[in-house]
Amino acid sequence: MEYRLRENEFLLFKNLIYDKTSINLDKSKISLLENRLAKRLRHYEFSNFKEYFDYLNNHQNSKELQLFIDLITTNETSFFRENPHFEFLEQKHLPTLEKNKKLNIWSAACSSGEEAYTLGMVLEKNKFNYEILGTDISERILESAKKGVFPIERSIKIPSKYLKEFCLKGKNEMEGFFKFDKKISEKLNFKYFNLNMNFDSLPTFDIIFLRNVMIYFDQKTKDELVFRITNKLKKGGLFFIGMAETLIEKNSKIKMISPSIYRKLE
Ligand SMILES: C[S@@+](CC[C@H](N)C(=O)[O-])C[C@H]1O[C@@H](n2cnc3c(N)ncnc32)[C@H](O)[C@@H]1O
Repeated sequence: MEYRLRENEFLLFKNLIYDKTSINLDKSKISLLENRLAKRLRHYEFSNFKEYFDYLNNHQNSKELQLFIDLITTNETSFFRENPHFEFLEQKHLPTLEKNKKLNIWSAACSSGEEAYTLGMVLEKNKFNYEILGTDISERILESAKKGVFPIERSIKIPSKYLKEFCLKGKNEMEGFFKFDKKISEKLNFKYFNLNMNFDSLPTFDIIFLRNVMIYFDQKTKDELVFRITNKLKKGGLFFIGMAETLIEKNSKIKMISPSIYRKLE
């Protein structure tokens, strides 16, 4: 059965998505939403999108809402994505820090974990003591991050010095996959965290990566999020945003030190 998402139905979903995730969808995303949600309508044998919307609304706490969020998020990521950030860390920032101090790092909106594992490789190589928290709103994608097993094709972006030292090729039933050395994976912790939730339960961090997620938010959400997130950054700590993203600097607590890299003022 072919389903068509009408404009009035799209608006219902748009408001629900904004409320639950802060993701701000514009009308250009109608067919994307139509395609992604159609399988749920087929699953329940609903005859239109309004029936699915009502089902979601009547089961606010059900697994379906999480499944819905899993379907509407875009989880594109890769190892060493936007590599100048990792070069900056390795060449400019880490050499200024004491090695015996433990670094607390947050990969906010970590998707399947590639960003967090990349940070792990860089810190391990430079012999730092560290702990990395990866968080995301999609339970489905977090399962992949926790598993930490990746198809071998994804290793293509990992420089050979890291591949040789930290990546373990799977054998037999794990043929075609790789995972990371325990000394990295045991320092990573992945958990569900919605960026529009209260931040009180979080510790403070030396480094925060918030990359390629703010593109889905409106300006008000971005401003509030940057304000709250930089409250969680230690003085002198670094804050990274996506290289194609911009911050309107109303925030007096941080200073840009390189494009898309900010330092929390002392
Ligand atoms: C495009 S990925 C970015 C992954 C990684 N940071 C990178 O740059 O490669 C965006 C991620 O943001 C997550 N996300 C979207 N809205 C969120 C929210 N309100 N709270 C937490 N994560 C969210 C999505 O589930 C998705 O995995």
